[in-house]
Amino acid sequence: MEFHRVIRARSSLRAFSQRPVEPEKIERMLEAARRSPSCGNRQPWRFVVVGADAPSRAAVEGALDAGNAWAKRAPVLIVTGARREDAAVVESRDYFLLDTGMALMSLLYRAVDQGLLAHPMAGWKEAPLRAALGLPEEFTPAAVVAVGYAGSAGDLDEATRKKDEKPWARKPLGELAFRSRWGEPFGAALPDRPAKVYETEVQLRFGDTDAMGHVNNAKVVTYLELGRIRFFIDVMGAERVEDIRFILAEVSCRYRIPILLHDRVFVRMHITDVHRSSFRFRCELFDPRDGRVFVEAETVQVMYDYATGRPVPVAPDFLARARDYIGG
Ligand SMILES: Cc1cc2nc3c(=O)[nH]c(=O)nc-3n(C[C@H](O)[C@H](O)[C@H](O)COP(=O)(O)O)c2cc1C
Repeated sequence: MEFHRVIRARSSLRAFSQRPVEPEKIERMLEAARRSPSCGNRQPWRFVVVGADAPSRAAVEGALDAGNAWAKRAPVLIVTGARREDAAVVESRDYFLLDTGMALMSLLYRAVDQGLLAHPMAGWKEAPLRAALGLPEEFTPAAVVAVGYAGSAGDLDEATRKKDEKPWARKPLGELAFRSRWGEPFGAALPDRPAKVYETEVQLRFGDTDAMGHVNNAKVVTYLELGRIRFFIDVMGAERVEDIRFILAEVSCRYRIPILLHDRVFVRMHITDVHRSSFRFRCELFDPRDGRVFVEAETVQVMYDYATGRPVPVAPDFLARARDYIGG
């Protein structure tokens, strides 16, 4: 999954299905945690993975607060924490919990990346948790993480369901981030979504379909190219092939629904980020009649000098013309 999707998809929902989690998915989560940064590279984090059949499972469940009873349905519970003496102390600042938090975040994102739900919890009693897992005295447990596939909200009791239905809430950036000095407004400039999204229709041809009657997946990449070129003509004012001054560096597609010959297909696209020499389009192929999205895609273009065969910086006139289409 693209990273921006992982960030957006992560949430601490509480309805778990009882579908078992493949052991390799848990291993990949632990591997992601292992790669996390830590102060002085001390890697103080430790994890105890408690599966549904583990002898310690009932005792770990018994340590959960009543308000976290929903977590008992999760096929895997992971307990994480660290020992203070395994981590760096700078002046009088202890880094063991910060390091562990970073590793936990990597673990959560890798879970989401693999289609899993992972919900961290602080609501448990320490003494029974220690006893359940035989945790060393110097070890500080920091969180229990419920891991599994998302289930149906209908399986939750009413109070828990209401928690899951609460709208997503975050403080505004201006409250969290300052520029230069504490209290000085950061002045966020990135629009949450672009002012405009470019749309153009794609004409399907009979020859685009395969033996199953679906538009072939390779054709979809050509449809994206068509959108890109039209964007350069309509928005950037390209008149000749020399005005199309990029080279394609990356394409990723998520095929959600097969495209059939009788579908009407539009491509809509905008720019999500611009770097020194490259920019990224986020695109969707959709049917404007009913809003069905067939394909979600991203492409990365590198501005390129075809004469020298080298990347060149994104030009100010490009940014000026594309401005309304940048965001989100
Ligand atoms: C360290 C930590 C402890 C948490 N403890 C609990 C908990 O005991 N029970 C619970 O239902 N949610 C718990 N949460 C989840 C938070 O309530 C949740 O992250 C927050 O409401 C933001 O929602 P989101 O994760 O869906 O973005 C915890 C989260 C963290 C990071």
